Amino acid sequence: MKRILITSAIPYINGIKHLGNLIGSQLPADLYARYHRARGAEVLFLCATDEHGTPAELAAAKAGKPVEDYCAEMHLVQAKIADGFRLSFDHFGRSSSAQNHKLTQHFAGKLAEAGLIEEISEKQVYSNADGRFLPDRYIEGTCPNCGYDKARGDQCENCTKQLDPTDLIDPRSAVSGSTDLEVRETKHLYLRQSQMKDKLDAWIEGKTDWPILTTSIAKKWLHDGDGLQDRGITRDLNWGIPVKKGEDDWPGMEGKVFYVWFDAPVEYIASASEWVDAGKGTDWERWWRTDKGADDVHYVQFMGKDNVPFHTLSFPATIMGSGEPWKLVDYIKSFNYLNYDGGQFSTSQGRGVFMDQALEILPADYWRWWLLSHVPENSDSEFTWEGFQAGVNKDLADVLGNLVSRVTKFCRAKFGEVVPEGGSYGPAELALIVRLQTGLDAYQTHMDNIEIRKASAELRALWVAGNEYLQEAAPWTQFKTDPEGAAAVVRLALNLIRFYGVISSPFIPDAAASILAAMKTEDDTWPSDVGEALSLLPAGHAFEVPEVLFAKITDEAREDWQQRFSGIRD
Ligand code: 2FM
Ligand code: ZN
Repeated sequence: MKRILITSAIPYINGIKHLGNLIGSQLPADLYARYHRARGAEVLFLCATDEHGTPAELAAAKAGKPVEDYCAEMHLVQAKIADGFRLSFDHFGRSSSAQNHKLTQHFAGKLAEAGLIEEISEKQVYSNADGRFLPDRYIEGTCPNCGYDKARGDQCENCTKQLDPTDLIDPRSAVSGSTDLEVRETKHLYLRQSQMKDKLDAWIEGKTDWPILTTSIAKKWLHDGDGLQDRGITRDLNWGIPVKKGEDDWPGMEGKVFYVWFDAPVEYIASASEWVDAGKGTDWERWWRTDKGADDVHYVQFMGKDNVPFHTLSFPATIMGSGEPWKLVDYIKSFNYLNYDGGQFSTSQGRGVFMDQALEILPADYWRWWLLSHVPENSDSEFTWEGFQAGVNKDLADVLGNLVSRVTKFCRAKFGEVVPEGGSYGPAELALIVRLQTGLDAYQTHMDNIEIRKASAELRALWVAGNEYLQEAAPWTQFKTDPEGAAAVVRLALNLIRFYGVISSPFIPDAAASILAAMKTEDDTWPSDVGEALSLLPAGHAFEVPEVLFAKITDEAREDWQQRFSGIRD
């Protein structure tokens, strides 16, 4: 049996994520996980909240809560919303877990043993007004690379360049806005990524099947300018994983914590260990240690493009540098950005639709379908309310929903709520089966290759093919002259509905479940032979007409939401 390990970039704890975040990692990862589970693979799908660092401290301070309490609460909030979107994590962990403390300190110890950590005394920005060092995101300023004036101390979100706070031009405190900053001396640990450049380079060069978006970003940071730089992995903060060498204290590092980007990817591993400790699994090393069975695991990571440098360079450097047999990622699927109505989604500015708000107005499947079929895969894409309304109404209501409703209601009216007897399938049915087989094969190929736009287009084409067949066969007309023939068409169409339920489930799991429930079958076996799949429900099998699967979005509702979400969330 295939074994597939899937991780989604772990969302920051500070607040509820917007739809751009959702489609940039968690949702495509869920699609992939659901697809492979449906096809019978053994899947371990992990995610977590990213709880350390300055964003968490800042948000907790704003909420007036101790950071531990804030994180515990927000973790539950995010877990509940993830569930609302049907994100099927096997475990949704926390980067502040004891398991992650232990593993992060373990990696640091191994890297130190391997001579890959350097202690450096450096000058760092201290804010007199705030009475503290200002690392990372506590400092804003102008990016030295592209000139963007809201770059943060850890990374410029405009050009993706990884930054150090002291690189910023015209820096100011993000806490107080104060420019009364001074530079003081403090000691920090650096991961000697430069020592590993050749190894990382060779590794990336071998990944010829990876998306260009992923490898181009990695290569840029390997080769541009002075090449791969060493990276600071500690910070002067209170909240985080205390700097230790394995279980031992690290002289000179008292009171410091690891940098959030050092411990966050380690949480991918720790989440598996949490999964076992929570009693949901029995052996996490089987997924993560190549000496304990993980060599036959296929490991896929999902993330937005701003996360690529950390996943292609820093985290692999940590894993390889440890000298231990940890599983390295096999494929990195990265995404561009989803924009919102002529601008950007922005958490800090409260612009766009946030995950909790989305679920308040429509069920998860509407969002899942539209977002996945418009995923920013090969370029940035844009959410507009008109586009959303058109996509949902056309694909879900007019094509899939309408077919299900029309067929089931017609059958109930003419033959009752059972699959009718009737003649055998004729040339039109056989042609449809051939068409669906070709489409199914293409759909699977796209899903296997994680080409989500192509996969969703193919799935939509499969729904359309069924509609066209029905349009042609027109059992409602045929019934008047040839009820047996009409019964055969309806028998096929009811089987087709079940078939759609199964193959659409990775995209729209709730609707798929409603379809199977209405067809009164628990058989959700992924089809291989379409002819067989369309004979699965025999004559006499009972079903019921489902509730409306997808209601159309009216112009009125669309305008109302457009208005409601045009402003800034506080
Ligand atoms: O960009 C983000 O939302 C980060 N919290 C992603 C971290 S992914 C990983 F490394 F854990
Ligand atoms: Zn920049």
